[in-house]
Amino acid sequence: MIDFTQKTVLVTGGGSGIGRATAEAFGSAGARVVVAEINPELADEVRNQLQQAGVEALVVQADVTLRADVARMVDTIEQRFGGLDVLINNVGDYLVSKPFEQFSDEEIDRLYSLNLRHIFDVTRAMLPLLRKQGAGASIISLSSIEGLRGAPTCAIYAAFKAAVGGFTRTLALELAPEGIRANEIALETTETRQVPVSLAIPDANKHHIPRWIPLGRFGQPQDCAGAALYLASPLAAWVTGSTLTVDGGAMAAGGWMRDPSCAWTTIPVITGNGFIDASQGAPAQLRPEAQPA
Ligand SMILES: NC(=O)c1ccc[n+]([C@@H]2O[C@H](COP(=O)([O-])OP(=O)(O)OC[C@H]3O[C@@H](n4cnc5c(N)ncnc54)[C@H](O)[C@@H]3O)[C@@H](O)[C@H]2O)c1
Repeated sequence: MIDFTQKTVLVTGGGSGIGRATAEAFGSAGARVVVAEINPELADEVRNQLQQAGVEALVVQADVTLRADVARMVDTIEQRFGGLDVLINNVGDYLVSKPFEQFSDEEIDRLYSLNLRHIFDVTRAMLPLLRKQGAGASIISLSSIEGLRGAPTCAIYAAFKAAVGGFTRTLALELAPEGIRANEIALETTETRQVPVSLAIPDANKHHIPRWIPLGRFGQPQDCAGAALYLASPLAAWVTGSTLTVDGGAMAAGGWMRDPSCAWTTIPVITGNGFIDASQGAPAQLRPEAQPA
């Protein structure tokens, strides 16, 4: 049932990370894939990759936070494919992690634009194309488990990711009479360009990884791509307004973790956040303050 032949799928930010894995997964499942990507080199890369894989692909260099670019995407998709079956709102970024009161107005505006506002704009602009395909069309928006729990040093990102859930639930109700579904995926830390976990964790802490998350590893972009395929497919025909956590069991664990003997505990077991080598006192990651999900 995961066959998207004759279906058109738009992935925003499909040039790398989760978006790229998702674009490739839909392509492998037979879809016509549209990617909106701001970075021209990444756009070229994904265009070549999809074409080499024999996927009917349309890669548009576009900034989804610009309404003119979004309007251009609508026209291009309509001319090339006539309509849209699946919209995946993937673009999002925590940008920087720090205590709430240190965020400037400009940073808050930027986080709003990158994590929420474009989801409103792109979804509203694409609705006429989704309506052309009618019942069975669907919208999937990328969120984070930081939108479901408290996330120290990520207050603004967490707030906007939580808002993605609120938007998704109401949109699902408004579109349900037409048979168009809306769902969100809430992720735990996943290895991407934005979150290069394997580079970010110092060697001294790598042995903690099997106990960091219940399923014993961080996410790979393909984990999310699989969830998106399911949510967009007829297998999920009765699923709307829902949040699918793709998190290796992190939300189920809540505050539970495993100590070095693998016994479950709710008591902190290491010093620091894991991204800092306590013996060196220096962070080893590219974006030192952060450990977002
Ligand atoms: N990686 C994680 O650990 C993680 C965890 C939770 C949630 N998420 C969410 O998953 C989504 C994807 O994250 P990722 O880690 O793959 O990100 P990423 O930064 O690795 O990839 C995002 C892609 O979007 C493109 N992009 C950025 N701004 C754009 C814009 N304005 N217009 C068009 N394209 C743009 C980038 O060039 C890049 O190719 C985001 O919404 C993120 O918040 C990621």
